[in-house]
Amino acid sequence: MKADVMGDALETVLVTADQIDQRLTEMAAEIDAAYVGKEPLLVGVLRGAAMVMSNLALKMESSLAMDWMAVSSYGSGTKSSGVVRILKDLDTDIAGRDVLIVEDVIDSGLTLSWLISNLESRKPASIRLATLVRKVGAANVDISVDFVGFDLPNEFLVGYGLDYAEHYRNLDCIGTLAPHVYGG
Ligand code: PRP
Repeated sequence: MKADVMGDALETVLVTADQIDQRLTEMAAEIDAAYVGKEPLLVGVLRGAAMVMSNLALKMESSLAMDWMAVSSYGSGTKSSGVVRILKDLDTDIAGRDVLIVEDVIDSGLTLSWLISNLESRKPASIRLATLVRKVGAANVDISVDFVGFDLPNEFLVGYGLDYAEHYRNLDCIGTLAPHVYGG
């Protein structure tokens, strides 16, 4: 979906489709260089990471495997409470594997913090982290991210996997949602 389809629901385009494509090409090369002689397991965190993971994998030269997890914050209301439950676990035994977690966005960092410690307990050879978007100033957990697409402001972002109530994930760029849409 192109930005013009959203009309006034989209306030500003922060990153164009071409810029995302170019950055994913660069990130794929960076990741390939980090896994020379290895076969990484890309772990996508559903649902937002679907676009990033697919397009990143298509651009990579490495022989790789892909698996998916779905997680949700525990309890009602607040997202990113830091207490996470697994809705869909990996199908792969990651013991001894080189794992690359792929995210669309890191916001508070709480989801990833939990996920990293959960995956570490399964004794992988390594865990690295790639995200298309890291929100600036939002992280209240110190997470070292190995591959970052874009550092963007802490605003309501949609597109390229990022949604508002399940809408706009298929927007081909990343932009800010107009406040009138979400009642902001
Ligand atoms: C998003 C994103 C991360 C998480 C990041 O998922 O994909 O998993 O939020 O937030 P945090 O850094 O504050 O923990 P979301 O819960 O929106 O689910 P979705 O991928 O299905 O949209």
